Amino acid sequence: MKFQPLKYIYRPSVLPEANTLLLFHGTGGDEEDLLDIATYLDKDVNVLSLRGNVLENGMPRFFRRVSPGKFDEQDLAHRSDEVLVFLRQLAKTEGFNINKIIALGYSNGANILGSILLRNPDFLLGAILFRPMRPYRLLPAVRMRHACPVFLSSGMSDSTVDLKDTESYCAALSDRGFLITWHRLKSGHGLSKDDVNLAAQWYFKHFG
Ligand code: MLT
Repeated sequence: MKFQPLKYIYRPSVLPEANTLLLFHGTGGDEEDLLDIATYLDKDVNVLSLRGNVLENGMPRFFRRVSPGKFDEQDLAHRSDEVLVFLRQLAKTEGFNINKIIALGYSNGANILGSILLRNPDFLLGAILFRPMRPYRLLPAVRMRHACPVFLSSGMSDSTVDLKDTESYCAALSDRGFLITWHRLKSGHGLSKDDVNLAAQWYFKHFG
């Protein structure tokens, strides 16, 4: 299958050589959804927000799923590579530094982000995964040159995600060399203020 371009919003920073905050929305969302969170985290970055290329009953997603919680892993791998190819091209046309990207994803967006991290462990400076799930049943082995910091937050009453599974996902990421910060919050699948505030603290520690 050929790679397709993605719809996006790009807001350049006024600062030269700024980092870029790359955003991935959840199922049924779009590229507008996470813009306020990006501004809250950092006013001085370029912001690039993507819209997933897959439609499920009219709802944008970043990759296909067989059923809720069961992913089409072949499509996930293909769509992850599609995003990478698109970003490499876009960095040239929009003029941001491809080596200075921090990414943030919610739910379905966190899951393609997990896949991108595992397939390209040295690509990102850091990543924020809100309500993530393990992207592949068998996680690939990775070799990385730098220990990429990764923030994850889960809802303790989120009926769509098995926390035990997320725990073993975090352990597997840590074993592979990622610097994991995982929070279990008193919430469901929806994002809460705690997610955003904890992510902001983590962001400031690593990139402030
Ligand atoms: C979702 O609704 O987006 C799921 O919880 C996660 C996914 O399908 O990637």
